[in-house]
Amino acid sequence: MTKRRTAILISGSGSNMLALLEAARNPSYPARPCLVLSNNPEAAGLARAAALGVPVAAVDHRPFAKDRAAFEQALDAVLLAHGTEFIALAGFMRVLTGGFVGRWQGRMVNIHPSLLPLYRGLDTHARALAAGDTEHGCTVHWVVPELDAGEIIKQVRVPILPGDDAAMLAARVLAAEHALYPVALASAIRQAG
Ligand code: GAR
Repeated sequence: MTKRRTAILISGSGSNMLALLEAARNPSYPARPCLVLSNNPEAAGLARAAALGVPVAAVDHRPFAKDRAAFEQALDAVLLAHGTEFIALAGFMRVLTGGFVGRWQGRMVNIHPSLLPLYRGLDTHARALAAGDTEHGCTVHWVVPELDAGEIIKQVRVPILPGDDAAMLAARVLAAEHALYPVALASAIRQAG
């Protein structure tokens, strides 16, 4: 099959991105990473991707503080310049508007650290602990204009253990994310055709 040219969007350390890059080394994997793109020029993940020979770029969101549409047009320009066909959001911490999402809908997925539809948005681990939940997890879903509300592709459950704090729980969930995202991205690309 033709591999889909896939851009991975990050804001931070990029550990999920590394899991995707590792999976994509398999010749039968349906994504070819064409770009790692960040809104944060200092994101540690950019250097990690560059060290692996993957093209990297940053579009700093700060100069666009008053013009989200212009920020997203700048993202689009970089994505198109790299021949992007599919987008994997991997810890990309900017909310995308309906305009951008509409241009990529059906070709863009996200990983979120909760068992959606529980705990959309931020601080998911602390919120699961505060609610007294006994399990938590992570979800890969299609991106739609409403935040963290798109159709679920795959989800993994993670136990909450006695004595967990938010950091301990986040680390357990992150390990599950690294196993989930490569499988879910492959499934999404095959589904999109
Ligand atoms: C991951 O836990 C990811 O699920 C989360 O940010 C972390 C990024 O870690 N994403 C969100 O919260 C999106 N709303 P990473 O940079 O090491 O992959």
